[in-house]
Amino acid sequence: MERGICIFKIMDIKKLLTVDGGEQEDLFGLANKVRKEEVGENIYFRGIIEFANFCEKDCVYCGIRKSNENVERFWMGEEEIIECLRFIHNAGYGSVVLQSGELQNDKFKNFLLDVVGYIQKIYPDMGVTVSCGEFEYDYYKKLREAGAHRYLLRIETSSRSLFKKLHPDGDFETRYKCLLGLKELGYQVGTGIMTGLPGQTDEDLVEDLKFFLENDFDMYGLGPYVVHEDTPLVTENVKLEWEKNRSEIFNKTLNFIALMRIILKDVNIAAGTALDVFDPLGRMKALKAGANVVMPSVTPRMYRDKYLLYQNKPCIDEDAEKCKDCMYNKVSAAGFKPMLGVRGDSLHFKS
Ligand code: 5AD
Repeated sequence: MERGICIFKIMDIKKLLTVDGGEQEDLFGLANKVRKEEVGENIYFRGIIEFANFCEKDCVYCGIRKSNENVERFWMGEEEIIECLRFIHNAGYGSVVLQSGELQNDKFKNFLLDVVGYIQKIYPDMGVTVSCGEFEYDYYKKLREAGAHRYLLRIETSSRSLFKKLHPDGDFETRYKCLLGLKELGYQVGTGIMTGLPGQTDEDLVEDLKFFLENDFDMYGLGPYVVHEDTPLVTENVKLEWEKNRSEIFNKTLNFIALMRIILKDVNIAAGTALDVFDPLGRMKALKAGANVVMPSVTPRMYRDKYLLYQNKPCIDEDAEKCKDCMYNKVSAAGFKPMLGVRGDSLHFKS
């Protein structure tokens, strides 16, 4: 099957975003066929360490935005991170994701370089993904040289006008340039969007798919938008609409994942944690729709309720050990093979 949107008419794609029942089963069936052919039926694990919630950005949807004064800020120490890395290694996760808010100062940048350098030295086989936002090209280069293999930077939406509304202090072109720079530097590059954003249309989602296809990234992580009451995006009306459309947003996210698998083929697709806000088995449903990566949290329990990008985040009363067992069991029960002890690089990148 040829890679691309040309196999469908754009109209069909828009229609497919909202299918349910038997039609949705057909869509997932096709996505699974493509998954089996392109990437197999293994599910790869990445242990995610949310190591700091300081942020210089003011994205209007995000709970840890700079202006939210109700957040208790934290920045994990090196020893705490080393403990998490040991856990990841022993659990056999194969890859780590280092995530934080966006900080540009030298202290933060040097700290991150040190952490990546440490992983390279002590755990040379571990896949290292950084997800700490926008930096200048030269710093991405340094991180790459220090041992980072992958970078996750969601574009959040490919609609320039919606992007501007959601990121009053951000710039679409700058973020996009970061993604292109990361590709040039030889990272496996991951991006993604949020589905169900206030003001987002189905046409926007079709454009997002086109954006992914045209820019040819290696990995995708996406999830549904979830309200956070301490953010300017959430008015009474937005909250009501979101509550009313919950199941629609959830379904659309799954359909979007299935379409990504069908169109983008051999890429890695992570099942976003926010899906579990809508359904306790949300992430497993995403795997059944075509995703092939899960990112169980390794963040120490004491920090989890301080890293709330959105409300009702799952697993905040759990620790890394519990998340490991739970995820492993759920993935197996969903009929997939959890792959431990391997990095699980994007086959798309390799090819
Ligand atoms: N709902 C869902 N996802 C969110 N993110 C940030 N805020 C929210 C929210 N309110 C996502 C963004 C970001 C990722 C780390 O978390 O897509 O890139």
